[in-house]
Amino acid sequence: MRKQIAAANWKMNLTLEQGSTLVNDIISASLMLDKDHLVVFGVPFPYLTSVKQQLAGRENIFVAAQNCYSKKSGAYTGEVSAEILHSIGVDYVIIGHSERREYFNECNAMLAEKLNLAFEYGLKAIFCCGEALAIREAGTQNSFVETQIKESLFHLTAEQMTGFVIAYEPIWAIGTGKTASSAQAQEIQLHIRNVIGAQYGDAVAQSVSILYGGSVKAANAKEIFGQPDVDGGLVGGASLVAAEFSAIINSLK
Ligand code: 13P
Repeated sequence: MRKQIAAANWKMNLTLEQGSTLVNDIISASLMLDKDHLVVFGVPFPYLTSVKQQLAGRENIFVAAQNCYSKKSGAYTGEVSAEILHSIGVDYVIIGHSERREYFNECNAMLAEKLNLAFEYGLKAIFCCGEALAIREAGTQNSFVETQIKESLFHLTAEQMTGFVIAYEPIWAIGTGKTASSAQAQEIQLHIRNVIGAQYGDAVAQSVSILYGGSVKAANAKEIFGQPDVDGGLVGGASLVAAEFSAIINSLK
């Protein structure tokens, strides 16, 4: 079975102490993790090392950066490279979150560069895609997301795509309390898998974990994750509450 993943995206929230307490509370909760389950904590850059230390010795639980830069190294004040993340032992990196696309003008071509660097330095990427409300209302979400995938991923090799992680996050569902229905998530995530299958073949497509993100909560996780093409979630607000995120982890299929 492909990996089922509960990934937290703390975004720009929590102090060091609050974050450390949250991680402790979650890892000391009774988590039901089987061998195909992964938990990932996407934390602010300054906490990566300490959260990684907190997770030492835990199988299936990893730390993620929320971004990396699209250049290898050099005079880019304030940016953090894939190589720097690799050098401090970071496992995962979230690439192409809609907030990065919207507030920092990250385009599909730039995200392709970031993915190349992530691969070069052995980081596992969680690649985000998803449409805005106007696109959903126009009914063109499938072709919009297809373009995001093609322009950022299709230069990758089949080997690189095997076991890749994509997070489908409709922008209209992020932080709004308005979750996509499980049927909406399934429909577009199956489409994403088919797009990958058409390019790379079915075996590769079946190996890719496709997460849903957008107002996932303990109360709706089981229903959404129960869909055949939903392999877990990328969770913002609810990942900041230990009881919520623990229950979300325990909702993985
Ligand atoms: P919410 O879970 O707060 O809607 O955020 C989703 C998200 O953007 C995760 O990356």
